[in-house]
Amino acid sequence: MDQFQYVNPTKLIFGKNQTAAIKDEAAQYGNKILLVYGGGSIKKSGLYDTVMEQLKAIPDAEIVELSGVEPNPRLSTVNKGIQLIRENNLEFILAVGGGSVIDCAKAIAAGVHYDGDVWDIVTGKAAPASAVPLGTVLTMAATGTEMNGNSVITNWEEKDKRAFSSIHTYPKFSVLDPQNTYTVPKDQTVYGIVDLMSHVFEQYFHASENAPLQERFGESILKTTIDVAPKLIKDLENYDYREVIMLNATFALNKVLTMGVKTDWATHMIEHAVSAVHDIPHGGGLAILFPRWMEFVAQTKPEKVAQLGIRVFDLNTEGKSLNDLAAETIQRVKEFWASIGAPENLSDYGIDSREIELMVERSMVGDTIGSYVPLNKDDVRTILVNSL
Ligand code: NZQ
Ligand code: ZN
Repeated sequence: MDQFQYVNPTKLIFGKNQTAAIKDEAAQYGNKILLVYGGGSIKKSGLYDTVMEQLKAIPDAEIVELSGVEPNPRLSTVNKGIQLIRENNLEFILAVGGGSVIDCAKAIAAGVHYDGDVWDIVTGKAAPASAVPLGTVLTMAATGTEMNGNSVITNWEEKDKRAFSSIHTYPKFSVLDPQNTYTVPKDQTVYGIVDLMSHVFEQYFHASENAPLQERFGESILKTTIDVAPKLIKDLENYDYREVIMLNATFALNKVLTMGVKTDWATHMIEHAVSAVHDIPHGGGLAILFPRWMEFVAQTKPEKVAQLGIRVFDLNTEGKSLNDLAAETIQRVKEFWASIGAPENLSDYGIDSREIELMVERSMVGDTIGSYVPLNKDDVRTILVNSL
């Protein structure tokens, strides 16, 4: 293992009816609150009313709303939120929604305390020194943003989507009531499942030695997801299935799997480039790209791909080479995602080769991306062309 330090300051409040905790948790950070939410799913589900009831019970509460945060949240919306906080001297942010809403709230939180353009923070030109405290009420199991410091923001004008991470943007608390995910439609539920599995892959395919515990943690997240996901897809309001997937998604990216290893993340960088240019759902993009990334790296490093298949898909190893096993693993990943209804090719989203070069360009940060097998521009182009 590499040397590491691990800190996770987020208080996780998990389970049925835990929204009742919002008032006391939020009140610790002030009574002038920015409530951030998305395109209206929380109004339809009734969660908005529950949250408002909690916030209004805080003595002298002043609540300002920022609604309409887009899936793949945009820099322009982040700037709106920064302005609202500054104009109204707000003290705390409550984000109620999926990854997009929470990521937007994190960028607002960091941007308020920064004198320059918040895009500097998103692109890593500046690091936040502090942030407005934020809490979250998660409505969709997918990104893990509820228990990490990451935020992914799209600059639509520049067709660029970038991620930053800071200790200052970990939520102070996150309320995870699986009942709040009952209304997530089937397609978004599938994207969330693909996303959480992809997060495990990004950390499982690391470039370090001797990390058996981290790998076994990852395998158990994958195995339980593969067991429960098909049942959930057929029974979207099942509490037991929703709670397993919700906790799996949180643990897939609360950085436990990252301890002591150099993680990869190339596929995420390529997906962010695809969705920056074409505005497709993140999990949909990953379902297409990850098997192609695995095919690419298995040409030179089939060992870990084979290990994944043996341990997670229980492949029979008799008489098979590492290359056979790696190929079988990739086939099993593809089949599993197809079986729950994930897309398989970029053409499923109407994407053709026309903007490949822009996507290659936007994928790159430096000469190579990823660490399991570092990819140069030509490698990224090959993966994208194979994904069409
Ligand atoms: O906007 P509303 O009306 O709330 O509808 C949303 C949105 O249309 C809907 N939804 C969410 N909860 C719902 C619901 N609909 C009905 N009932 C509910 N309970 O689902 C749609 C998608 O929501 P979104 O927040 O965009 O999905 P997700 O959680 O997958 O977040 C995706 C974003 O997170 C980024 C992605 O790149 C993308 O921008 N990521 C963030 C990460 C992080 N911060 O750690 C890591 C990830 O790898 C990822 O890159
Ligand atoms: Zn992801």
